[in-house]
Amino acid sequence: MNNFEFRTVPYIVSQIGATKQLGELIAQHYPAVRRVLLVTDAGFLRTGLVNPVIASLENKKLHVAVFSDVVADPPEAVVHQAVADAKQKEVELVVGLGGGSSMDVAKLIAVLAGSEQPLSTMYGIGNVKGGRLPLIQIPTTAGTGSEVTPISIVTTGATTKMGVVAPQLYADIAILDAELTTGLPPKVTAATGIDAMVHAIEAFSTKHKKNPLSDMLAKQALSLLWNNIDQACTNGNNLEARQAMLLGAMLAGQSFANAPCAAVHALAYPIGGIFHVPHGLSNSLVLPHVLRFNTPNAAGMYAELAGIIAPDAQGSDEARSTALIAAMEALAARVGIETQLRQVGIAEKDLDQLASDAMLQTRLLGNNPRDVALEDARAIYAAAL
Ligand SMILES: NC(=O)c1ccc[n+]([C@@H]2O[C@H](COP(=O)([O-])OP(=O)(O)OC[C@H]3O[C@@H](n4cnc5c(N)ncnc54)[C@H](O)[C@@H]3O)[C@@H](O)[C@H]2O)c1
Ligand SMILES: [Fe+2]
Repeated sequence: MNNFEFRTVPYIVSQIGATKQLGELIAQHYPAVRRVLLVTDAGFLRTGLVNPVIASLENKKLHVAVFSDVVADPPEAVVHQAVADAKQKEVELVVGLGGGSSMDVAKLIAVLAGSEQPLSTMYGIGNVKGGRLPLIQIPTTAGTGSEVTPISIVTTGATTKMGVVAPQLYADIAILDAELTTGLPPKVTAATGIDAMVHAIEAFSTKHKKNPLSDMLAKQALSLLWNNIDQACTNGNNLEARQAMLLGAMLAGQSFANAPCAAVHALAYPIGGIFHVPHGLSNSLVLPHVLRFNTPNAAGMYAELAGIIAPDAQGSDEARSTALIAAMEALAARVGIETQLRQVGIAEKDLDQLASDAMLQTRLLGNNPRDVALEDARAIYAAAL
């Protein structure tokens, strides 16, 4: 067996309704804290679900500031603005309350509010110096798993996404509460849920750092997500299905935090960066085509995962890999999200730029089970068109 390391968030609460007790939790674990910053976005704020959370904090005499200017695929400017806000209000604890975008911004606020290190020097792996403010993460989408990853993704410049990856970005506490996700529209539920499934598939087949814990988590994640995504999409108020989705997304996050993602994410990022397609949908659009490209080097692993989502498939590893890909394609069609790049405004003339931008995602491409050259990336996008 290969040597490996495994890290995750030390304290996880999975309980429907748990966030109504956030004030008690903070009072118990951080008795000296008085000023809390809630980081969210305008879309989640509109649901009104933030109000009981604020009430629970105020009940414990905590002073609550809300930063709700996070936008999807947050640009650096949003992070700088949020940090200035946090410093000015002298916040002592940061709560990320939202999708991956809000949680990723919350991580960077917690690091930057007490640091003079410029954000520009933090990109890459292990470049964050010093500590951070206490950090609690509460996902409101069942997707990114950001509540348990040491990763924050920021849009730099006009179109490029870059990651800060550092152990300081692991939260102190992650809370999974399905009551926060019932208002998530079906298509967002579908796309974010498929993002989580991609995390499980990519972690399970990653070239580096694959290990027995990440494998176990990836399989359990895929099973929970696959068995609950249809129900979560068609009956959004099904709290059991919603909680299972949150748990699945979190387990997938634990998995890929330790056994990193690969070419599906590398090829998805330019789609999000240039065309502002949501992260989960970008992944879903390229997923089958990347898996087909990878099959010569990953068939054994894909066949094992087919046992979870296409259990009736039989035959060779290649045949069962094909069944896995077909099951994911059928899911995307069934839940009604776009399945071709042309449906999100991408044309043949855009493929060269997408391919050259994807090649910049070296952090991810290096993990792919099969080497991806520029012409391979272009061919994958062409197949997805
Ligand atoms: N840190 C990581 O490990 C990691 C992993 C994958 C992706 N990401 C990043 O996360 C971001 C994507 O996150 P996401 O897919 O969760 O989407 P998101 O955070 O951008 O939110 C998507 C939309 O859903 C809305 N929304 C969120 N929760 C809601 C709710 N409960 N009810 C109604 N509306 C709600 C938001 O207002 C927003 O409009 C991207 O920037 C991506 O790069 C990070
Ligand atoms: Fe993702």
